[in-house]
Amino acid sequence: MTTARAPGKLMLFGEHGVVYGYPCIVTAISERLVVGPGESRGDTRFIDAAVKAWGKPGETFVAESSFSGKYGFGSSSAVTVATLKAIRSGATNQEVFDTAYKIVLEIQGKASGFDVAAAVYGGTLYYVKDKTIESLPITDIPLVVGYTGIKANTTALIEDVARKRAAEPEKVERIFEAIGKLVIDAKEKMIEANWERVGRLMDFNQEYLRDLGVSSEKLELLISAAKGVGAWGAKLSGAGGGDCMIALVSKEKRQVVEEAITQVGGQVIHITTGAPGVRVDR
Ligand code: PMV
Repeated sequence: MTTARAPGKLMLFGEHGVVYGYPCIVTAISERLVVGPGESRGDTRFIDAAVKAWGKPGETFVAESSFSGKYGFGSSSAVTVATLKAIRSGATNQEVFDTAYKIVLEIQGKASGFDVAAAVYGGTLYYVKDKTIESLPITDIPLVVGYTGIKANTTALIEDVARKRAAEPEKVERIFEAIGKLVIDAKEKMIEANWERVGRLMDFNQEYLRDLGVSSEKLELLISAAKGVGAWGAKLSGAGGGDCMIALVSKEKRQVVEEAITQVGGQVIHITTGAPGVRVDR
């Protein structure tokens, strides 16, 4: 019997806009989830849907994760992707992506699929919904990750933004457009490893997310703590409202930034970026 593993993810740039066809940048992280045959437990919606799509009736799988589902590292997409690969180890990345994205859309409603792409392909990706999955030549992004202690409700936040967009279409489209441009700039600067500039772009992205109304007091607290002691830039990562913030830091500043985040009540999570995508465990 086969087991398969898939990585979690962190959104670096472009959340929310990506749902409406604007680009984003996501990185797969060293935290991962392993799925193999066994008695299903916990929230089995994604495993069940994967079995329904590709498995045999009555087949059960169990997921073991190196990270808590509460961080917002994309456990739902990672579990879906890993289950599909465990069922059909010969499936291509494209086949796994297409089926997993369909499952995530059915269960979660509106979603861009960026997290599914990270779980399948790994690395650091420039992603445009239904259009582009481009692997970027980037290794080792100097990130610090701070967890707010608050679980974000992604579906509710996506709906909030949709309501805002219906109420103020021009304003919200302008924000998405500005975020989209910034993502293209960030892609280039990340490839050049111009981290100082990438940090500035994170700050700009965070301003737009604030304007969209998806930041929170706790996120802002962690972000200002990181910035206050010299991070190049910082922003929320994902839907907002809670989950994690990320900060870009020099080697020299890493420790003080981590301490500052901890001091204001954040939990620092150590990860590495650009992890490999889904694979079969022999
Ligand atoms: O909350 P997360 O980490 O799943 O990120 C959500 C990012 C959104 O752009 C708001 C939604 C999406 O599916 O792209």
